[in-house]
Amino acid sequence: MVTEMELEVATPSSLHGEELERVVVLINQVYRVAERGMWIDETFKRTDIEEVSGIVRDGELMVCRSGGRVVGCVQCRMLNPSAASFGMLVCDEKFRGRGIGKALIARAEERAREKGAKTLQLELLHPIEWKQETKAVLEKWYPKLGFNKTEEWSFDELYPHLAKGLAHKCFFTVFLKELR
Ligand SMILES: CC(C)(COP(=O)(O)OP(=O)(O)OC[C@H]1O[C@@H](n2cnc3c(N)ncnc32)[C@H](O)[C@@H]1OP(=O)(O)O)[C@@H](O)C(=O)NCCC(=O)NCCS
Repeated sequence: MVTEMELEVATPSSLHGEELERVVVLINQVYRVAERGMWIDETFKRTDIEEVSGIVRDGELMVCRSGGRVVGCVQCRMLNPSAASFGMLVCDEKFRGRGIGKALIARAEERAREKGAKTLQLELLHPIEWKQETKAVLEKWYPKLGFNKTEEWSFDELYPHLAKGLAHKCFFTVFLKELR
């Protein structure tokens, strides 16, 4: 259960300056650990200040605060007028297992519905030839939250420029939930 946690849609006035920089560092740190072994350059950065500022400006970033400090976030964006996608889902390692991830996904669902989406999806990047532990856990967790595996895309075909940085061939597995 999430206790003493606050979830909000970040805005340029609620999330800026040093705090915004800390959120970018948090996202990059969490992904560096979660995707260890998947990238040639272990210092690979998932995102940067420019991208996250844009996401905040577009009203797509939901943050979870504990004691006022951001400890988790998720991006929810529209793919088309009836379909939404969430990504950049992170929780600070020290705050894991308290329901923050689940609450962020629930908030992303709410946000997607507010914008008229009938479906919400996520894409899970994972190596083809070996099981990456974190990804294997998520693969079992998302169906428990109602997201079902639909299709697998080759990451090389979708993002050839990024795929050059991968240490191993990876798939993007799509998990989709019908919103009612
Ligand atoms: C995915 C992530 C945001 C979940 O965050 P979280 O706040 O720990 O999520 P929850 O507390 O809602 O729990 C998630 C599941 O992990 C389990 N869990 C329990 N204790 C845990 C712990 N100490 N650490 C991690 N997971 C734990 C929970 O039991 C839950 O499973 P359940 O719903 O079957 O009980 C977090 O693990 C993370 O940042 N991962 C790395 C980034 C990543 O891979 N993002 C997704 C890319 S698609």
